Amino acid sequence: MTALTLSTAAAPGLRADAIVIGVAKGAKGPVVAPGADAVDNAYDGKLAGVLETLGASGAEGELTKLPAPAGFKAPLVVAVGLGAVPEKDAGYDAEALRKAAGVAARALAGSKKAAFALPLEGPDAVGAIGEGVLLGAYAFDTYKDSGKDAKAKNGKAPLAEAALLGGKPRDAVHKAAVARAVAVSEELNRSRDLINMPPNDLTPQVFAAVAQDAAKEHGLKVQVLDDKALTKGGYGGILGVGGGSAATPRLVKLTYTHPNAEKHLAFVGKGITYDSGGISLKPAGHNETMKCDMSGAAAVFAAVVAAARLGLEVNVTGWLALAENMPSGSAVRPGDVLRMYSGKTVEVLNTDAEGRLVLADALWAASLEKPDAIVDVATLTGAMMLALGSRTFGVMANDDAFRSAVYEAAEEVGEPAWPMPLPEHLRKGMDSTVADIANMGERMGGGLVAGLFLKEFVGEGITWAHLDIAGPAFNEGGAFGYTPKGGTGSAVRTLVRLAELTAAGDLG
Ligand code: BES
Ligand code: MN
Ligand code: ZN
Repeated sequence: MTALTLSTAAAPGLRADAIVIGVAKGAKGPVVAPGADAVDNAYDGKLAGVLETLGASGAEGELTKLPAPAGFKAPLVVAVGLGAVPEKDAGYDAEALRKAAGVAARALAGSKKAAFALPLEGPDAVGAIGEGVLLGAYAFDTYKDSGKDAKAKNGKAPLAEAALLGGKPRDAVHKAAVARAVAVSEELNRSRDLINMPPNDLTPQVFAAVAQDAAKEHGLKVQVLDDKALTKGGYGGILGVGGGSAATPRLVKLTYTHPNAEKHLAFVGKGITYDSGGISLKPAGHNETMKCDMSGAAAVFAAVVAAARLGLEVNVTGWLALAENMPSGSAVRPGDVLRMYSGKTVEVLNTDAEGRLVLADALWAASLEKPDAIVDVATLTGAMMLALGSRTFGVMANDDAFRSAVYEAAEEVGEPAWPMPLPEHLRKGMDSTVADIANMGERMGGGLVAGLFLKEFVGEGITWAHLDIAGPAFNEGGAFGYTPKGGTGSAVRTLVRLAELTAAGDLG
């Protein structure tokens, strides 16, 4: 990953491949953002005019390259748009800085060192710019032209080093902001790697082994239930979904504890390493990206490890419900009835509604420990994508205040989310003639129906929220801001924020 440093150096004398500056959108044209004074001075204070001549407006996502002024050691200035100039006395919005830093980091792939002279108004800005750089510089090239060095793979290696100018390398608060950005971004990028890994290589068994290695590295407790242990324990949902695949299912429990913790959070992730739909097979055109169906488990995994690396004063248990959904002679059939870990029976009407089946067992397992709250994350329904589009995840909960808290945490870290209801009247659509419940209900409101199904497997009296990340988990369009194509790491930062808020006693 890109090396991130705080630097007190002045821009002109700095040996770097580029100097990154911010440009905001003012009422009368582009405005040079604070942090770029040295560059502006070298342009005789006329940098805004130069940028305007080059077509810059300051809009978010915009990138303008210009030669560095005479006397600068770096040859290039990269101006990135920050959107509207903030109101008087208000600083630049953290998400605007994060996105702008990401845009610059992406554009600087192939460079060794860049200096970021963006408005660094405090530790929040340090963290946001740091995250933007580290997340924006991400590239997945494990499978490109194997055997050659990284640079030869995609044509360009990610930016190697980023110095945040105006940073205070000896200030504890600035240093903590960098450390947090590094821990969260490193784990988030690792979740992206897992999502992008092809499903022939990332089986439930391999994912579990990756979790075991990380647990060892970061001092977490880990328990892996394989198919034998799942059978013995009566995990009918996970076994039913995984039964069609030669790659057998796993349930992974990762435990992070802190001696001073007063609260216990449980995170539960859907980990379908490939979703073919099973016997209710998905048609071609709907299955090419279904390696992303383990994004929820990847997010949970990343968040638990990040919580451990940050030493948060909260206990966090992560549950990864891992299975491959495949059609075969041993696959679950539409019409089968599964006896779930909770004891409830489920009539499987559509084997493509598999996520709720694996989650039901993991939610029940999590509930048995009576945590203060459970949050599950899943690429659960196409319906949620239809409702909220490809960048926003839906938040459902059995508690209105908790749903708001989760939504606000997402907003705070720059993850687009929206609260969704769980209307009770949709429950009867899942009535089964033979079992306690069916795994499908009304088509309309399908995302909410799935949420209502999950709710049945949350232990009595436990606060629970469900994040349906089917839209934002995998970016099928072009890269934008700090978000690459492919796996995005959606929900990781929201989960980490929830753990931080819980540790601080500001949640529940
Ligand atoms: N993994 C899919 C949902 C999904 C769709 C995720 C598109 C990401 C992108 C899930 O398992 C699924 O197939 N859901 C079905 C449920 C239906 C059969 C009730 C769906 O949404 O169509
Ligand atoms: Mn499915
Ligand atoms: Zn699925």
